[in-house]
Amino acid sequence: MKIIIAKNYQSMSRKAADLIIRQIQMKKNSVLGLATGNTPLGMYKNLVRACKKGEVSFKKTTAFNLDEYAGLSENSKNSYHYYMRENLFKHIDIDKKNIFILNGAAKNLKKECENFEKMIKERKGIDLQILGIGLNDHIGFNEPGSSFKSKTRPVNLTTATRKANRKYFSGINEVPKKALTMGLATIMRAKKIILLASGKEKAEIIAKALKGKIKPTVPASILQKHPDVTVILDKEAAGIILLPKLVK
Ligand code: PGA
Repeated sequence: MKIIIAKNYQSMSRKAADLIIRQIQMKKNSVLGLATGNTPLGMYKNLVRACKKGEVSFKKTTAFNLDEYAGLSENSKNSYHYYMRENLFKHIDIDKKNIFILNGAAKNLKKECENFEKMIKERKGIDLQILGIGLNDHIGFNEPGSSFKSKTRPVNLTTATRKANRKYFSGINEVPKKALTMGLATIMRAKKIILLASGKEKAEIIAKALKGKIKPTVPASILQKHPDVTVILDKEAAGIILLPKLVK
């Protein structure tokens, strides 16, 4: 695991975008795994800028998204479809047919997830997966206790996650109780992974995930077993791992 400590959020975002651009320059038809949340917003801005300047083209690139709320339509402002469209896809030259986001409004959610796994396999797997990390250590919507063998599936969201995401909704009751997410085994099959974290509120969970015991109650700890993970942190998120005595 390679850990890069950036001086601030902007620098973390630039470094992450540069790694994606390098991946696409190396392999035009790269298959990316993308994430939502606050953390990757700066990275997406850098990608949009680079694409507009002609430094990178996403024409042959495929994108799979990590997760989506159940019950929200593509046009709901809180859906991850909407987030991806507004923050990335509508600004770059990616071909719509190469965008795969789980449909949270599908009638049969289990089938939707099975089909998503099939599509990833058909595209020969994800080359580079971007991840954020939740305050409860989730990656995607794999909440604490998720099986390390889990595949893409419908899940129940924890109260902690619903509370953390309440700020995007008009009230806690509006936050969906269910979601669809790539599984931990699905994420681990990506050839390369970039994990991003910013801010001091992530410092403790980052230390637990990267330096603590590998166990399902700390879902991101599974990343310690992956052969090609780059973690990009700003100084605040790296605060605890930089201390001489690490948390166990
Ligand atoms: P954040 O969310 O980037 O908004 O902190 C990360 C996550 O919950 O996975």
